[in-house]
Amino acid sequence: MIVLVGFMGAGKTTVGRILARRLGVPFRDSDVVIEQRAGRPIRQIFAEEGEPAFRDLEHKVIADLLDGTDSVLALGGGAVQRADTRDLLKDVPVAYLRISYAEAMRRVGGDQGRPMLVRPDVAQLHAERDLVYAEAATVTVDAGTSPPEAIARDILTLLADAEAS
Ligand code: S3P
Repeated sequence: MIVLVGFMGAGKTTVGRILARRLGVPFRDSDVVIEQRAGRPIRQIFAEEGEPAFRDLEHKVIADLLDGTDSVLALGGGAVQRADTRDLLKDVPVAYLRISYAEAMRRVGGDQGRPMLVRPDVAQLHAERDLVYAEAATVTVDAGTSPPEAIARDILTLLADAEAS
């Protein structure tokens, strides 16, 4: 199991697919499973039930996915906000894909499907989460400039080093 965390736009899905292919395991995305279970897009869950209900569902989905078959698992950017969700990650290899706020906005800034992006404090959120991601992570990679293949390779090398030490 490898878990990917990072801000919206960090490339968790793209890099996660590459990692899964290399390792020969399925790629899973907590956002996709949340939408399947809720039968609605994330934007609609936020609008109809609010963020706390979304985070509850997110917690349950991540717990189930971590309990399931070996995979590469990309988490939604806000999954690490809750302490009980962070606790689920304690014994799992976690890679933090770090990108700057400017790069995140360049990539996904206009995306209507990501309700957190319309918040007025999104820059602050990015700064606060940087520390939380880093703390939850086994390894951190710069995901802002390198091609996704190189990021995937770095993650595997760093995780192997971390395991050996
Ligand atoms: C969120 C990030 C999204 C999704 C939801 C909330 C966040 O996932 O889970 O819109 O709080 O940062 P991505 O990081 O895959 O965009």
